[in-house]
Amino acid sequence: MPKILVTGGTGYIGSHTVVELIANSYEVVIIDNLSNSRKEVLDGIKKISGIMPEFFVFDLCDLEKTEKFFQKNKIDAIIHFASYKAVGESVQNPLKYYRNNLVSLMNLLEMAIKYEIANFVFSSSCTVYGETKNSPINEEEPVQKPASPYGNTKKIAEEIISDVACVNSFLKIISLRYFNPIGAHESALIGEEPRGIPANLVPYITQTAIGKREELKVFGNDYNTKDGTCIRDFIHVVDLAQAHIKAVDCLLKNKNQNNLEIFNLGTGQGFSVLELIKAFEEVSGEKLNYKIVERREGDIMEIYADTKKANEILGWKAKKNIKEALLSAWNWEKAN
Ligand code: WQD
Repeated sequence: MPKILVTGGTGYIGSHTVVELIANSYEVVIIDNLSNSRKEVLDGIKKISGIMPEFFVFDLCDLEKTEKFFQKNKIDAIIHFASYKAVGESVQNPLKYYRNNLVSLMNLLEMAIKYEIANFVFSSSCTVYGETKNSPINEEEPVQKPASPYGNTKKIAEEIISDVACVNSFLKIISLRYFNPIGAHESALIGEEPRGIPANLVPYITQTAIGKREELKVFGNDYNTKDGTCIRDFIHVVDLAQAHIKAVDCLLKNKNQNNLEIFNLGTGQGFSVLELIKAFEEVSGEKLNYKIVERREGDIMEIYADTKKANEILGWKAKKNIKEALLSAWNWEKAN
């Protein structure tokens, strides 16, 4: 059974991917420094999958500790989630983001080369497309300097990966550009656990609906869209997790066409903020308390994915709709 290293495996997308990997008979080992997640997430994974994955707590920026791990563990593929991802914090503390997100990546790539681990899946983001106006976005869309240092770490990471792949032809790398992940596992045993005040829309909605937050602020309704609010491609986190299985399968079976492939992961459909609020009210039966306020700095008006490439090459397509995703987010909020 192939052994998959999942870095950041106690995080939101990482934990859901670990559950899907186990369900697909992969052996999983997690490295996480628990800087933005809790060890108890492993209990949720165990309850869902019946298996407690091997777990190592250390910082991937520590090359000595990272190398010790690879000396002792034979890995068939790496899925690299571990990175800081708070857009706002990255603006306030860019060096923390550049150091953490890029040094950890470089250490992992160095180990993949040294220990001949050919298969590498990288967690990227649609934010690399910057201020694009061309939705639906395909992978040929030029990347631009993203609005935040966080997004720029993803852009630079992809550039590092491209340069490394060029001169290490044995490497087979897939970079997955996520649109807006939302929702939780249907068991409500794992889900999104933002620390402090949620920056993202859906956890803020569910916390408002359950009474943890006073009201949702909708950042602007004067955009040139159907109802004036921004449009995004909200993808169920379980659909996203399953795309990672397809990516690992593709690499392990040598079905990749190039040694670096990039895929957009979304539903292919855009929903506005107000449409999402309406859908949430329908599935939850809760009237959401929200107020329209001024725009948020750095927000783009509209971005949603053209998912043809992932559909055709990975054989993956998002199956769950926005109401299923919102209901799962609501059930998770109520369970916690
Ligand atoms: C979505 C829409 C807001 C909160 C970010 C990162 C991206 C990825 C996903 C990591 C926007 C509006 C939000 C609120 C609001 N993260 N909104 N009130 O900004 O599209 O993407 O998270 O990989 O890289 O950039 O997601 O959920 O913050 O915002 O009105 O309280 O909801 O203005 O239009 P975003 P978001």
